Amino acid sequence: MDFSLTEEHIMIRDAARDFAQTELLPGVIERDEKQQFPAEQVKKMGELGFLGMMVDPKYGGGGMDTIAYVLAMEELSKIDASASVVVSVNNSLVCWGLEKYGTEAQKQKYLVPLATGKIIGAFCLSEPEAGSDATSQRTTAIDKGDHYLVNGTKNWITNGGNASVYLIIAQTHPEKGHHGINALIVEKDMEGFVVGPKENKLGIRGSDTHSLMFNDVKVPKENRIGADGFGFSFAMKTLSGGRIGIAAQALGIASGAYELALKYSKERKAFGKEISRHQAIAFKLADMATQIEAARHMCMKAAWDKDQGNNYDMASAMAKLHAAETAMNVTIEAVQIHGGYGFVKEYHVERLMRDAKITQIYEGTSEIQKIVISRGVLKG
Ligand code: CAA
Repeated sequence: MDFSLTEEHIMIRDAARDFAQTELLPGVIERDEKQQFPAEQVKKMGELGFLGMMVDPKYGGGGMDTIAYVLAMEELSKIDASASVVVSVNNSLVCWGLEKYGTEAQKQKYLVPLATGKIIGAFCLSEPEAGSDATSQRTTAIDKGDHYLVNGTKNWITNGGNASVYLIIAQTHPEKGHHGINALIVEKDMEGFVVGPKENKLGIRGSDTHSLMFNDVKVPKENRIGADGFGFSFAMKTLSGGRIGIAAQALGIASGAYELALKYSKERKAFGKEISRHQAIAFKLADMATQIEAARHMCMKAAWDKDQGNNYDMASAMAKLHAAETAMNVTIEAVQIHGGYGFVKEYHVERLMRDAKITQIYEGTSEIQKIVISRGVLKG
């Protein structure tokens, strides 16, 4: 077993680290406070190829593997999880599904601008009454011959206000349950499509989260992804990969907070020595480092499984479950190690602690990951 990274992987990791330091760090506190979307930074990430990293170069992507994606996500998330979630959603939830299941015309029209970062996309599954229970879709897409007539509401949609393309999941044949669901591509300027107000959130406050309303939106038939009724399966398959991205985001939030706590503990003195030399702090650091190392291995294993063509449903759910828990534990401890300084914004760890929480909620709560894992375990 070879744990070493390739030269290309190291290059991508270093490029993401540099970008995070030079472009994301300045202003990250203000963007969080003002709930400001990192528009300029997202544009630059698009130009650098981060928004379509894994897409085939023939559609304008970087042609990289999932390991490279995990490395980039960790580095970007150490500094700004509001920016890194754009990378995760665009790559995993929007580009991946279009590339894997879209028609050539859909790829030319939508995937190319998404992969090159000219536009960003959103993935719309959650509804006011269908978050975890995703089969209970209330949004309808009625078959009208040459188009679908879409009505309903989607909630908590990442990139909701800034996206140009939305992959939406809607019910076409209610009598067929989840086999009657379709995935459709909606463009922002389609008549009857309304973006609701931005949510005022605990964490990832720069990220652009909205509810979306569909009032008799006419979506051409050629905008359906896959066969009639494929939508739920499409959503599940897409989320399996998305969970690797969010696991890597959680890993980055944890390792960012850990690095800050380690540095601070070597500088801050109390009772006559650096606080890192007190066992109470040193043991915290040991626990944090151990949890992070395990999370990193799990993210890499899930990414490797995906790259090898193995089933990765369980590996991605496990990686997300553990990495999100690690992000929460480690950021709480990082605030604790900083003491009073940890409670104020300038030291970054309080923001990382707030940002960590969403990784236990979106793309399936921790409880949903346990459903996926336990079903896998019981199946053998
Ligand atoms: N790949 C393909 N098909 C899958 C699948 C997968 N990974 N997982 C399930 N399916 C299929 C099943 O095989 C089944 O199809 P059949 O009947 O043909 O066998 C169908 O989907 C329904 O499966 P279940 O009967 O298991 O459905 P369930 O209702 O019991 O539970 C669930 C499924 C795993 C709990 C699912 O509802 C789920 O994942 N929920 C969470 C949804 C989620 O992650 N939401 C996050 C929103 S997106 C987001 O956060 C994006 C963002 O903005 C950042």
